[in-house]
Amino acid sequence: MIITIDGPAGSGKSTTARKLAARLGIPYLDTGAMYRVVTLAALEDGVDLRDEAALAALAERDDYQLDPGPTHIRVTLRGRDVTEEIRSMRVNDHTRYIAASPGVRRVLIRKQREIAQRLGSLVTEGRDQGTAAFPDADAKFFLDAAREKRAERRLHDLLADGEEVTLEQVLANVDERDRTDAQRPVAPLAVPANAVRIDTTALSIQAVLDLIVEHLRKAGLVT
Ligand code: C5P
Repeated sequence: MIITIDGPAGSGKSTTARKLAARLGIPYLDTGAMYRVVTLAALEDGVDLRDEAALAALAERDDYQLDPGPTHIRVTLRGRDVTEEIRSMRVNDHTRYIAASPGVRRVLIRKQREIAQRLGSLVTEGRDQGTAAFPDADAKFFLDAAREKRAERRLHDLLADGEEVTLEQVLANVDERDRTDAQRPVAPLAVPANAVRIDTTALSIQAVLDLIVEHLRKAGLVT
């Protein structure tokens, strides 16, 4: 069973996807973490962020790993734990170059499908999971929320990670990523066909989770 959850930054999709996977007893894939670790690798190697071939080659390498962790997915790059580093504002400010690269997207989608094939069942979240990566998924969800609410949630996470950042800076970054996610020519952020849309602005994670499980029950996917 493949369940996709797409949506913009701060829509609540990561926490929801992780908790849904735990409730269903199946693995969870955070595809944003893949774009983030490739971004970090590019920054560390001083790769020109517009060099298509170099970026696709970085995505292709198998020197980064994603493993389930207690809260976030645990990410390593060349043997180093970068779980926190990939969530920094420095990485946030550069993911759009990586996300806009057709070569990177091709490689990462292939890797995502390989992971799904290997694991059988998966809750996978990102921007293009129900559209480009798994158009035939068993169930698709699209989460959204008011931009101020999404920026507040991101600010909360960044402050908890010890970043010195203001709400204005986070709002600007969220707006910029929304704009570039929606406008890029390859796999732009869009509501997938047949997706269930959920506005999470005024909802707790638990309420979102209950709505999703209710949909899965009605669809006969869970008992
Ligand atoms: O979800 P998260 O904020 O961690 O994603 C980081 C960035 O990776 C996003 O800003 C987006 O541009 C990109 N991304 C993507 N496609 C995905 C997941 C993330 O383009 N499936």
